[in-house]
Amino acid sequence: MLIRHAQVVLPTETIATSVLVENGKIAAVDAAIHTQADEIIDAAGLHLIPGVVDDQVHFREPGLTHKEDLTTATRACAKGGVTTFLEMPNTNPTTTSVAALHDKLALAANKCLVNYGFYIGATTSNVSELKAARRTPGIKIFIGSSTGNMLVDEQAALEAIFAETSLPICAHCEDETTVRANSAKFADTHDVADHSRIRDHQAAVIATRRAIELAHRHGHRFHVLHVSTADEVPLLVDHRGLITAEVCPHHLFFNVDDYARLGTLVQMNPSLKTSADCRGLWQALQDGLIQVIATDHAPHTLEEKKLPYSPGHGGSPSGLPAVENSLALLLNQVNQGRCTLQQVVHWMCDAPARVWDIMNKGRIEPGYDADLVLVDLNKTATIRNEEQETKNRWSPWHGETLTGWPVRTWVMGQEVFRADSSGSRINSQVRGQEATFDHARGGYWSTTSP
Ligand code: DOR
Repeated sequence: MLIRHAQVVLPTETIATSVLVENGKIAAVDAAIHTQADEIIDAAGLHLIPGVVDDQVHFREPGLTHKEDLTTATRACAKGGVTTFLEMPNTNPTTTSVAALHDKLALAANKCLVNYGFYIGATTSNVSELKAARRTPGIKIFIGSSTGNMLVDEQAALEAIFAETSLPICAHCEDETTVRANSAKFADTHDVADHSRIRDHQAAVIATRRAIELAHRHGHRFHVLHVSTADEVPLLVDHRGLITAEVCPHHLFFNVDDYARLGTLVQMNPSLKTSADCRGLWQALQDGLIQVIATDHAPHTLEEKKLPYSPGHGGSPSGLPAVENSLALLLNQVNQGRCTLQQVVHWMCDAPARVWDIMNKGRIEPGYDADLVLVDLNKTATIRNEEQETKNRWSPWHGETLTGWPVRTWVMGQEVFRADSSGSRINSQVRGQEATFDHARGGYWSTTSP
């Protein structure tokens, strides 16, 4: 396959060139390619970018498939330009043993339309499993409770994980002691705005500081998931090449004022913070203190989300779906002049591939996998619940009109999604591959910036 006439986002520059794909790989990037190809795609007026690598999603299979499953979730990925995902262990059963990890990989091989990888989750007593695990990007710790019962916040357990394991670690950082003390103050609340008072700035700062201190003391690579406050940003200054961090679209685009309009639809953990925090998080991306944008796609049914807010007593769960709109949300920002397409590709493709040592992903370069997305920076469309591929067909961005959309997605050279004047189609026959991790690469700071 030869893609011609696109503006191609390469690691260091965006230029008009041609990309030749052979056997699922990028074979050449050269404006002067004049070869016979089975398929020649004229992409004039469009930009070609590497597929998005979303390093934090919850796809609910096995066990919670009324919320989402690997088929619906990866259809949403294909449409959203996400060609590789790394999924979290809070399924049922949890992915906290090598056997459960291998079961999930086997399930994924049959079902996923895009490439896949799965974290192994920490418990208070599974260090031997964490040490034995291969075929995984790394270890996930919930240093702060969220969906699922996976809290690990005893100091001794955390010390053992950081001391005895060698896989990279990431964590959900909200301090449980702070959250419990705040919860007691709002014991009978049904006001979802209290979610941000319970899971407040201090909860985030204390837990992020604690985890980074552990990482530094043990010399262990560590990735801070979903940073939600500007107050955490100074903690992310890294002089030793151990720490990376990520932010989610919802913490960039929503703030506490949105509870009035969206209620529990924008209840998530960590909670929404203020508009000043949103600005601080944008600045941290621009300054390179946060390297990755990932979604934390965490779907629940609309019926579940519309339960009254009632923390600790059931009630509305935390989390929202996002994989099918995250790229478009950022392309819209490119159009508004807030960032460049080159930066978006860094934050959503190259940086996560480097953080997790993923082989051959995140760049358009000969030898890399042909996970590719054509984007139309001039296309304007409105997000509609009824058009969502995610199982429960709702989005917190319903009704928002964005300019800049993925219009064609390839996974390992196979076309999995296409939108044109005759509508949009997903090829459900396509299967992604298991992502491979070369942890000897040493992560983001050990690999070269373009
Ligand atoms: O809001 C959230 N929901 N945050 C998480 O960390 C977990 C997620 C879920 O799995 O529902």
